[in-house]
Amino acid sequence: MGSLEIGSRLDACLTAAVAADPGLADVAKVIAACASAAIEVSTVIGRGALAGDLAAQGEQNSDGDVQKFLDVFAHERFTEALRGAPVSEVASEEAEGVMLLNPGAPLAVAIDPLDGSSNIGVNMAVGSIFGIRPTASTPENPLGSFTGPGTLQRAAGFVTYGPATSLVLTLGDGTQTYTLDRAEGVFRLTHPRMEVVASAKEYAINASNARHWDTPVKAYIEDCLRGAEGPLDKDFNMRWLGSLVSDAQRVLLRGGVFLYPGDNRKGYAQGRLRLLYEAAPIAFLMEQAGAGAIDGERRILDICASAIHERVPLIFGSADEVACVAKYYGGRNSAAGRSPLFGQRGLMRS
Ligand code: F6P
Ligand code: MN
Repeated sequence: MGSLEIGSRLDACLTAAVAADPGLADVAKVIAACASAAIEVSTVIGRGALAGDLAAQGEQNSDGDVQKFLDVFAHERFTEALRGAPVSEVASEEAEGVMLLNPGAPLAVAIDPLDGSSNIGVNMAVGSIFGIRPTASTPENPLGSFTGPGTLQRAAGFVTYGPATSLVLTLGDGTQTYTLDRAEGVFRLTHPRMEVVASAKEYAINASNARHWDTPVKAYIEDCLRGAEGPLDKDFNMRWLGSLVSDAQRVLLRGGVFLYPGDNRKGYAQGRLRLLYEAAPIAFLMEQAGAGAIDGERRILDICASAIHERVPLIFGSADEVACVAKYYGGRNSAAGRSPLFGQRGLMRS
Protein backbone atom coordinates (compact mmCIF):
# COMPACT_ATOMS: atom_id res chain seq x y z
CA MET A 1 0.00 0.00 0.00
CA GLY A 2 2.95 2.30 0.72
CA SER A 3 3.79 2.65 -2.96
CA LEU A 4 0.50 4.40 -3.81
CA GLU A 5 0.51 8.10 -4.49
CA ILE A 6 -0.41 10.64 -1.87
CA GLY A 7 -3.99 11.71 -2.47
CA SER A 8 -5.14 8.25 -3.64
CA ARG A 9 -8.60 7.28 -2.41
CA LEU A 10 -8.86 4.63 0.30
CA ASP A 11 -10.87 2.34 -1.99
CA ALA A 12 -8.11 2.48 -4.64
CA CYS A 13 -5.50 1.68 -1.98
CA LEU A 14 -7.56 -1.27 -0.75
CA THR A 15 -8.01 -2.53 -4.31
CA ALA A 16 -4.23 -2.35 -4.82
CA ALA A 17 -3.61 -4.20 -1.54
CA VAL A 18 -6.01 -6.98 -2.60
CA ALA A 19 -4.41 -7.19 -6.04
CA ALA A 20 -1.04 -7.72 -4.35
CA ASP A 21 -2.46 -10.22 -1.83
CA PRO A 22 -5.87 -11.71 -2.72
CA GLY A 23 -6.07 -13.11 0.82
CA LEU A 24 -6.89 -9.56 1.95
CA ALA A 25 -10.18 -9.36 0.03
CA ASP A 26 -12.42 -9.87 3.06
CA VAL A 27 -10.26 -7.69 5.28
CA ALA A 28 -10.55 -4.88 2.72
CA LYS A 29 -14.35 -5.16 2.78
CA VAL A 30 -14.37 -4.82 6.57
CA ILE A 31 -12.09 -1.78 6.43
CA ALA A 32 -14.35 -0.19 3.81
CA ALA A 33 -17.34 -0.80 6.10
CA CYS A 34 -15.55 0.83 9.06
CA ALA A 35 -14.58 3.79 6.87
CA SER A 36 -18.15 4.36 5.72
CA ALA A 37 -19.46 4.20 9.31
CA ALA A 38 -16.73 6.64 10.35
CA ILE A 39 -17.80 9.13 7.68
CA GLU A 40 -21.37 9.05 9.04
CA VAL A 41 -20.11 9.58 12.59
CA SER A 42 -17.79 12.35 11.42
CA THR A 43 -20.68 14.18 9.75
CA VAL A 44 -22.69 14.23 12.98
CA ILE A 45 -19.69 15.28 15.09
CA GLY A 46 -18.85 17.98 12.57
CA ARG A 47 -22.28 19.55 13.07
CA GLY A 48 -21.57 19.80 16.79
CA ALA A 49 -24.44 21.25 18.82
CA LEU A 50 -26.42 21.74 15.59
CA ALA A 51 -26.87 17.95 15.55
CA GLY A 52 -28.51 18.06 18.99
CA ASP A 53 -27.09 17.21 22.39
CA LEU A 54 -24.35 14.71 21.47
CA ALA A 55 -23.62 14.17 25.16
CA ALA A 56 -27.23 13.41 26.14
CA GLN A 57 -27.13 10.58 28.65
CA GLY A 58 -28.79 7.20 28.25
CA GLU A 59 -28.14 3.73 29.68
CA GLN A 60 -25.01 2.32 31.33
CA ASN A 61 -22.50 0.40 29.19
CA SER A 62 -20.57 -2.79 30.00
CA ASP A 63 -18.25 -0.86 32.34
CA GLY A 64 -20.98 0.92 34.23
CA ASP A 65 -20.17 4.17 32.34
CA VAL A 66 -23.26 6.13 31.35
CA GLN A 67 -23.63 6.00 27.56
CA LYS A 68 -23.98 9.29 25.73
CA PHE A 69 -26.00 9.82 22.55
CA LEU A 70 -22.83 9.72 20.43
CA ASP A 71 -21.60 6.45 22.03
CA VAL A 72 -24.84 4.76 21.02
CA PHE A 73 -25.00 6.38 17.58
CA ALA A 74 -21.42 5.33 16.73
CA HIS A 75 -22.03 1.78 18.02
CA GLU A 76 -25.13 1.48 15.83
CA ARG A 77 -23.45 2.93 12.72
CA PHE A 78 -20.42 0.63 13.04
CA THR A 79 -22.32 -2.54 13.82
CA GLU A 80 -24.80 -1.87 11.01
CA ALA A 81 -21.96 -1.31 8.52
CA LEU A 82 -20.18 -4.46 9.72
CA ARG A 83 -23.37 -6.48 9.26
CA GLY A 84 -22.98 -5.86 5.54
CA ALA A 85 -19.36 -7.11 5.59
CA PRO A 86 -17.90 -10.62 6.03
CA VAL A 87 -18.01 -10.33 9.82
CA SER A 88 -19.17 -13.16 12.05
CA GLU A 89 -18.96 -11.44 15.43
CA VAL A 90 -18.33 -8.08 17.02
CA ALA A 91 -17.00 -7.31 20.49
CA SER A 92 -17.96 -3.68 21.16
CA GLU A 93 -17.30 -1.55 24.20
CA GLU A 94 -20.97 -0.64 24.07
CA ALA A 95 -22.33 -4.21 24.20
CA GLU A 96 -21.93 -6.57 27.12
CA GLY A 97 -21.51 -9.80 25.18
CA VAL A 98 -20.23 -10.79 21.74
CA MET A 99 -22.70 -9.71 19.02
CA LEU A 100 -23.38 -12.37 16.38
CA LEU A 101 -23.69 -10.79 12.92
CA ASN A 102 -23.11 -13.26 10.05
CA PRO A 103 -22.56 -16.83 11.30
CA GLY A 104 -19.80 -18.56 9.37
CA ALA A 105 -18.22 -15.33 8.06
CA PRO A 106 -14.42 -15.37 8.19
CA LEU A 107 -13.64 -12.29 10.30
CA ALA A 108 -14.40 -10.97 13.78
CA VAL A 109 -14.05 -7.34 14.82
CA ALA A 110 -13.35 -5.71 18.18
CA ILE A 111 -14.46 -2.07 18.26
CA ASP A 112 -14.49 0.93 20.50
CA PRO A 113 -17.10 2.84 18.50
CA LEU A 114 -16.54 6.13 20.32
CA ASP A 115 -13.28 6.57 22.15
CA GLY A 116 -12.70 9.53 24.47
CA SER A 117 -16.30 9.89 25.65
CA SER A 118 -15.45 12.63 28.15
CA ASN A 119 -14.63 14.87 25.16
CA ILE A 120 -18.16 14.53 23.70
CA GLY A 121 -20.20 17.71 23.76
CA VAL A 122 -17.24 20.03 24.41
CA ASN A 123 -15.99 20.21 20.80
CA MET A 124 -12.86 18.15 21.50
CA ALA A 125 -11.41 15.27 19.52
CA VAL A 126 -12.88 11.78 19.91
CA GLY A 127 -12.36 8.63 17.83
CA SER A 128 -13.22 5.06 16.89
CA ILE A 129 -10.87 2.05 17.12
CA PHE A 130 -11.09 -1.38 15.48
CA GLY A 131 -9.10 -4.60 15.32
CA ILE A 132 -9.90 -7.30 12.74
CA ARG A 133 -9.24 -10.95 13.61
CA PRO A 134 -9.94 -14.33 12.00
CA THR A 135 -13.12 -15.98 13.23
CA ALA A 136 -12.13 -18.76 15.63
CA SER A 137 -15.19 -19.25 17.83
CA THR A 138 -16.87 -22.63 18.22
CA PRO A 139 -19.98 -23.71 20.16
CA GLU A 140 -17.63 -24.97 22.89
CA ASN A 141 -15.52 -21.82 22.82
CA PRO A 142 -17.84 -18.88 21.98
CA LEU A 143 -15.16 -16.26 22.79
CA GLY A 144 -12.56 -18.04 20.63
CA SER A 145 -12.30 -15.25 18.05
CA PHE A 146 -11.15 -12.82 20.72
CA THR A 147 -8.97 -14.86 23.05
CA GLY A 148 -5.90 -15.22 20.83
CA PRO A 149 -2.95 -12.80 21.04
CA GLY A 150 -2.99 -9.45 19.23
CA THR A 151 -0.45 -10.83 16.77
CA LEU A 152 -3.41 -12.63 15.14
CA GLN A 153 -4.96 -9.34 14.06
CA ARG A 154 -5.22 -9.13 10.27
CA ALA A 155 -5.63 -5.35 10.30
CA ALA A 156 -6.30 -2.55 12.75
CA GLY A 157 -7.15 1.10 12.62
CA PHE A 158 -8.47 4.13 14.39
CA VAL A 159 -10.32 7.20 13.30
CA THR A 160 -9.78 10.59 14.89
CA TYR A 161 -12.65 13.06 14.65
CA GLY A 162 -10.60 16.18 15.27
CA PRO A 163 -10.11 19.39 13.35
CA ALA A 164 -9.73 16.96 10.44
CA THR A 165 -11.09 13.41 10.42
CA SER A 166 -8.35 10.88 9.78
CA LEU A 167 -8.09 7.12 9.51
CA VAL A 168 -4.87 5.46 10.65
CA LEU A 169 -4.59 1.96 9.25
CA THR A 170 -2.37 -1.10 9.13
CA LEU A 171 -2.81 -4.33 7.20
CA GLY A 172 0.43 -5.60 8.66
CA ASP A 173 2.72 -3.90 6.15
CA GLY A 174 3.40 -0.47 7.64
CA THR A 175 1.03 2.13 9.04
CA GLN A 176 -0.71 4.67 6.79
CA THR A 177 -2.90 7.68 7.49
CA TYR A 178 -5.82 8.76 5.32
CA THR A 179 -7.53 12.11 5.75
CA LEU A 180 -11.22 12.65 5.06
CA ASP A 181 -11.84 14.81 2.02
CA ARG A 182 -15.08 16.33 3.28
CA ALA A 183 -16.01 17.83 -0.08
CA GLU A 184 -16.11 14.39 -1.69
CA GLY A 185 -16.86 12.17 1.31
CA VAL A 186 -13.82 9.92 0.76
CA PHE A 187 -10.64 9.17 2.68
CA ARG A 188 -7.42 10.04 0.82
CA LEU A 189 -3.94 8.77 1.54
CA THR A 190 -1.88 11.52 3.21
CA HIS A 191 0.85 9.62 5.11
CA PRO A 192 1.89 6.47 3.17
CA ARG A 193 4.42 5.13 5.68
CA MET A 194 4.46 6.48 9.20
CA GLU A 195 7.66 6.21 11.20
CA VAL A 196 7.69 7.15 14.85
CA VAL A 197 10.93 8.81 15.95
CA ALA A 198 12.83 6.51 18.31
CA SER A 199 13.64 9.15 20.90
CA ALA A 200 11.36 11.95 22.05
CA LYS A 201 10.74 14.35 24.93
CA GLU A 202 6.98 14.35 25.36
CA TYR A 203 4.93 12.17 27.68
CA ALA A 204 1.19 11.74 28.12
CA ILE A 205 -0.33 10.62 31.41
CA ASN A 206 -3.29 11.60 33.59
CA ALA A 207 -1.24 13.22 36.34
CA SER A 208 -4.22 13.49 38.69
CA ASN A 209 -3.74 9.77 39.39
CA ALA A 210 -0.08 10.18 40.41
CA ARG A 211 -0.58 9.10 44.01
CA HIS A 212 -2.21 5.86 42.84
CA TRP A 213 0.28 4.78 40.15
CA ASP A 214 2.41 1.66 40.19
CA THR A 215 5.87 2.38 41.65
CA PRO A 216 7.82 2.09 38.35
CA VAL A 217 5.60 4.71 36.72
CA LYS A 218 5.93 7.01 39.70
CA ALA A 219 9.71 6.73 39.47
CA TYR A 220 9.75 7.26 35.69
CA ILE A 221 7.50 10.34 35.77
CA GLU A 222 9.41 11.74 38.71
CA ASP A 223 12.54 11.53 36.57
CA CYS A 224 10.76 13.12 33.58
CA LEU A 225 9.86 16.01 35.87
CA ARG A 226 13.48 16.36 36.96
CA GLY A 227 14.31 16.99 33.31
CA ALA A 228 17.88 17.70 32.31
CA GLU A 229 18.88 17.73 35.99
CA GLY A 230 17.75 14.12 36.48
CA PRO A 231 18.97 10.75 35.19
CA LEU A 232 17.01 10.99 31.92
CA ASP A 233 19.12 13.97 31.00
CA LYS A 234 16.54 15.91 29.01
CA ASP A 235 13.65 18.29 29.59
CA PHE A 236 10.19 16.92 28.86
CA ASN A 237 6.91 18.42 27.74
CA MET A 238 3.53 16.93 28.70
CA ARG A 239 0.30 16.52 26.71
CA TRP A 240 -2.88 14.69 27.77
CA LEU A 241 -5.90 14.99 25.50
CA GLY A 242 -8.25 12.66 27.37
CA SER A 243 -8.86 10.68 24.20
CA LEU A 244 -6.59 7.73 23.51
CA VAL A 245 -6.82 8.03 19.73
CA SER A 246 -5.81 11.68 19.78
CA ASP A 247 -2.82 10.99 22.00
CA ALA A 248 -1.91 8.02 19.79
CA GLN A 249 -2.12 10.13 16.65
CA ARG A 250 0.19 12.75 18.15
CA VAL A 251 2.67 10.05 19.16
CA LEU A 252 2.59 8.61 15.62
CA LEU A 253 3.24 12.01 14.09
CA ARG A 254 5.82 13.51 16.40
CA GLY A 255 6.85 10.83 18.86
CA GLY A 256 6.59 10.62 22.64
CA VAL A 257 5.29 8.12 25.14
CA PHE A 258 1.77 7.48 26.44
CA LEU A 259 1.12 5.78 29.76
CA TYR A 260 -2.08 4.49 31.35
CA PRO A 261 -0.60 2.21 34.01
CA GLY A 262 -2.25 0.03 36.59
CA ASP A 263 -2.99 1.93 39.79
CA ASN A 264 -4.33 1.25 43.23
CA ARG A 265 -7.80 2.72 42.79
CA LYS A 266 -10.57 0.17 43.07
CA GLY A 267 -10.95 -1.58 39.68
CA TYR A 268 -7.81 0.00 38.22
CA ALA A 269 -5.22 -2.71 38.96
CA GLN A 270 -5.00 -3.25 35.20
CA GLY A 271 -5.40 0.42 34.34
CA ARG A 272 -8.38 1.70 32.42
CA LEU A 273 -7.90 0.75 28.79
CA ARG A 274 -9.26 -2.38 27.10
CA LEU A 275 -7.02 -4.99 25.57
CA LEU A 276 -9.16 -6.06 22.62
CA TYR A 277 -10.49 -2.82 21.19
CA GLU A 278 -8.03 -0.23 22.49
CA ALA A 279 -4.58 -1.60 23.37
CA ALA A 280 -4.19 -4.38 20.77
CA PRO A 281 -5.18 -2.33 17.69
CA ILE A 282 -3.06 0.62 18.82
CA ALA A 283 -0.10 -1.68 19.58
CA PHE A 284 -0.36 -3.14 16.05
CA LEU A 285 -0.40 0.36 14.51
CA MET A 286 2.51 1.47 16.70
CA GLU A 287 4.68 -1.54 15.93
CA GLN A 288 4.02 -1.18 12.23
CA ALA A 289 5.29 2.40 12.53
CA GLY A 290 8.46 1.34 14.35
CA ALA A 291 7.20 2.22 17.85
CA GLY A 292 6.59 -0.04 20.86
CA ALA A 293 3.64 -1.02 23.09
CA ILE A 294 3.93 -2.87 26.41
CA ASP A 295 2.02 -3.39 29.63
CA GLY A 296 5.23 -2.66 31.56
CA GLU A 297 6.66 -6.14 31.25
CA ARG A 298 5.05 -7.79 28.25
CA ARG A 299 4.58 -6.84 24.62
CA ILE A 300 0.89 -5.93 24.25
CA LEU A 301 0.53 -7.99 21.05
CA ASP A 302 1.53 -11.17 22.90
CA ILE A 303 -1.19 -10.88 25.56
CA CYS A 304 -4.34 -13.04 25.31
CA ALA A 305 -7.69 -11.85 26.64
CA SER A 306 -9.88 -14.13 28.70
CA ALA A 307 -12.88 -11.79 28.59
CA ILE A 308 -13.91 -9.30 25.92
CA HIS A 309 -13.82 -6.21 28.12
CA GLU A 310 -10.56 -7.10 29.87
CA ARG A 311 -8.30 -4.18 30.79
CA VAL A 312 -4.55 -3.91 30.42
CA PRO A 313 -1.93 -1.35 31.53
CA LEU A 314 -0.80 0.40 28.36
CA ILE A 315 2.48 2.14 27.56
CA PHE A 316 3.26 2.94 23.95
CA GLY A 317 5.29 5.24 21.78
CA SER A 318 8.83 6.03 20.69
CA ALA A 319 10.94 2.87 20.91
CA ASP A 320 13.66 4.28 23.16
CA GLU A 321 11.16 5.81 25.60
CA VAL A 322 9.13 2.59 25.84
CA ALA A 323 12.37 0.64 26.42
CA CYS A 324 13.28 3.14 29.13
CA VAL A 325 9.92 2.67 30.91
CA ALA A 326 10.41 -1.11 30.66
CA LYS A 327 13.69 -0.72 32.54
CA TYR A 328 11.88 0.98 35.43
CA TYR A 329 9.45 -1.97 35.53
CA GLY A 330 12.33 -4.41 35.43
CA GLY A 331 14.10 -2.60 38.27
CA ARG A 332 17.09 -2.30 35.94
CA ASN A 333 17.09 1.48 35.84
CA SER A 334 19.18 3.22 38.49
CA ALA A 335 16.24 5.51 39.14
CA ALA A 336 13.90 2.60 39.86
CA GLY A 337 16.38 1.50 42.49
CA ARG A 338 15.60 4.67 44.35
CA SER A 339 11.98 3.70 44.81
CA PRO A 340 12.25 2.90 48.56
CA LEU A 341 13.17 6.55 49.05
CA PHE A 342 10.43 7.72 46.77
CA GLY A 343 8.05 8.89 49.45
CA GLN A 344 10.76 10.89 51.24
CA ARG A 345 12.38 12.78 48.45
CA GLY A 346 10.29 12.20 45.34
CA LEU A 347 8.41 15.00 43.69
CA MET A 348 5.44 12.66 43.40
CA ARG A 349 5.21 11.53 47.03
CA SER A 350 3.23 8.35 47.49
O1 F6P B 1 -11.70 4.99 26.37
C1 F6P B 1 -11.15 5.34 27.53
C2 F6P B 1 -10.64 6.77 27.54
O2 F6P B 1 -11.67 7.71 27.26
C3 F6P B 1 -9.43 7.04 26.62
O3 F6P B 1 -9.80 7.55 25.37
C4 F6P B 1 -8.63 8.04 27.42
O4 F6P B 1 -7.25 7.96 27.13
C5 F6P B 1 -8.92 7.64 28.83
O5 F6P B 1 -10.16 6.98 28.85
C6 F6P B 1 -9.00 8.81 29.75
O6 F6P B 1 -9.15 8.33 31.02
P1 F6P B 1 -9.11 9.28 32.30
O7 F6P B 1 -10.44 9.97 32.31
O8 F6P B 1 -8.91 8.35 33.43
O9 F6P B 1 -8.00 10.24 32.11
MN1 MN C 1 -12.04 4.16 24.45
